[in-house]
Amino acid sequence: MKRKLAVLLAGTMVMASLVGCGSSDTATTETAASTEEAAETVEETAEETTEEAADDTAASGDLIKVGHAQVGHESDWRAANTQNFQDVFSEANGYDLAFVDSDNDNAAQIEAVRGFIQQEVDYIFLDPIETAGWDTVLQEAQDAGIPVIIVDRSVDADESLYTTAVGTDMVLEGETAGNWLAEYLNGEAANILVIEGTVGASATLGRTEGFNNVAAEHSEWTILDSQDGDFTQAGGQEVMESFIKSYSDFNVVVCQNDNEAYGAMDAMDAAGITYGVDGDVIIISFDATHDGLQYTLDGKINCNVECNPLQATFAEDVLKQLEAGEEVDKFTLVTDEAFVAPGITSQYATTMTQEVLDARAY
Ligand code: AHR
Repeated sequence: MKRKLAVLLAGTMVMASLVGCGSSDTATTETAASTEEAAETVEETAEETTEEAADDTAASGDLIKVGHAQVGHESDWRAANTQNFQDVFSEANGYDLAFVDSDNDNAAQIEAVRGFIQQEVDYIFLDPIETAGWDTVLQEAQDAGIPVIIVDRSVDADESLYTTAVGTDMVLEGETAGNWLAEYLNGEAANILVIEGTVGASATLGRTEGFNNVAAEHSEWTILDSQDGDFTQAGGQEVMESFIKSYSDFNVVVCQNDNEAYGAMDAMDAAGITYGVDGDVIIISFDATHDGLQYTLDGKINCNVECNPLQATFAEDVLKQLEAGEEVDKFTLVTDEAFVAPGITSQYATTMTQEVLDARAY
């Protein structure tokens, strides 16, 4: 049986060897525990009391082996998402988690999934960098009988090739940003610059589509330019610096995540451009991570649309249903909120307060 200790130890050694032979130099691979720790954990589990289902599994030494093929470490959101999976899929909860940081390299991520198939993990969590290119490896996982649970972003592969998906509604996130802007401007003209996320990522495609859906209803809005900032602070800064050289008449900057917004603010600070509720430029951001909401509370970001990174509990619920032999929904929606700076009221968003910030877990 796949989940016995011997296989756990073998899986650990395979994962260790994968570090040296991955297709990307920068992709890193690690197991949730060393061989020694795994053995110790199996001994300890007999005495531990955790949640019922996980308890039964862990206490028998029968850990569920899961592989998480993560996008990378491009943003604060990503760090929170990775941590959340490591917290939920811990040994104490009955799991042996193998983790690959794909460093935003699609080919490396496909190889990571192949590595999990070779190790005969019980489940694969795939957070796809791009939507395209997944058919072949998803078919390989299916042929190997390993359920694939897509998390956060989506794939454009046929639905029959993966078991289920968990994530937010990225189009709705973009529409919320657009609807808030329309409400805030109340008919005033907007010259808009967009700093997009990673090219081909569903987070980018969805937010762009959603925002453009609303923009199409506003002839008084002009989208001056839209460039890819790769969901990083450096990318946001670089794109904003180039926008500043090319455009002098913008009054809205849409950043498709918080880290890009930090970079864009740095670029505007350096150019002497004011932004936020007391400035000349309206900033819209996505993610609503702790620091992003601090900037929102400070009035620097006008509107911040959440993308909830705490998706591992939803993924675990689905996994437990599959373990119980139950049918699962093809998609589990993780819902989001939106937040606006103090002094702004909106039907689409909550006005930021210190209490809201203090309650933010990521
Ligand atoms: O897929 C979610 C997006 O990816 C988040 O908005 C961004 O911060 C991350 O890099």
